[in-house]
Amino acid sequence: MAKGFTLWFTGLSGAGKSTLAQRVRDILLERGLKVEVLDGDVVRQNLSKGLGFSKEDRDTNIRRIGFVCNLLTRNDVVAIAAAISPYRAIRDENRKLIGRFVEVYCKCDLDTLKERDPKGLYEKALKGEIKNFTGVSDPYEPPEHPEVMVDTAAEDVDTSVAKIIAALEEMNYIPAAAGGEYSADEEETIKRRLQDLGYI
Ligand code: ADX
Repeated sequence: MAKGFTLWFTGLSGAGKSTLAQRVRDILLERGLKVEVLDGDVVRQNLSKGLGFSKEDRDTNIRRIGFVCNLLTRNDVVAIAAAISPYRAIRDENRKLIGRFVEVYCKCDLDTLKERDPKGLYEKALKGEIKNFTGVSDPYEPPEHPEVMVDTAAEDVDTSVAKIIAALEEMNYIPAAAGGEYSADEEETIKRRLQDLGYI
């Protein structure tokens, strides 16, 4: 049975794609899966070195990431992509190419992003010092039917990570973690034992 799939994070800069990608990677590694992360910031230093932020360059960047994700996916590796990937059509192209594709929309409102602004980019973009900045002066097309949506302004990292892992289990991309879930009968037995011992 195929084990590979692509987990595709999309969302504005600073919305939490890289953080969530790393946290999910660590969990999947712990569960014995092979995982690779393709992060936009890293890819742009090697595979996509020299590309800028025009629509054409962004599309090229996203197609390249999709190409590598496809190679990994078909070799039973979990490929995790974390790039803004602002255009729906190109994300959908990758979805079609790869097949086993799970889109995670990292939603976050602009006010929160402006407040976080760890790289100071929103401030610069708002002053017009960076042109074509996604969400400020360049388009972002949110997914219409993402497999998972996380709202990083409203929920903490653990909650978002748990949502993603639960969705992957639900869709049978990964086996459910051992333990933690008991049948009604097992619950009853445990409860009785605890009562017998005087704990509850
Ligand atoms: S994408 O549009 O091609 O998917 P990608 O995720 O690789 O973008 O790179 C986005 C990162 O590049 C941002 O997190 C930010 O640090 C930086 N960046 C520099 N200029 C821009 C810009 N004009 N728009 C968006 N991000 C930019």
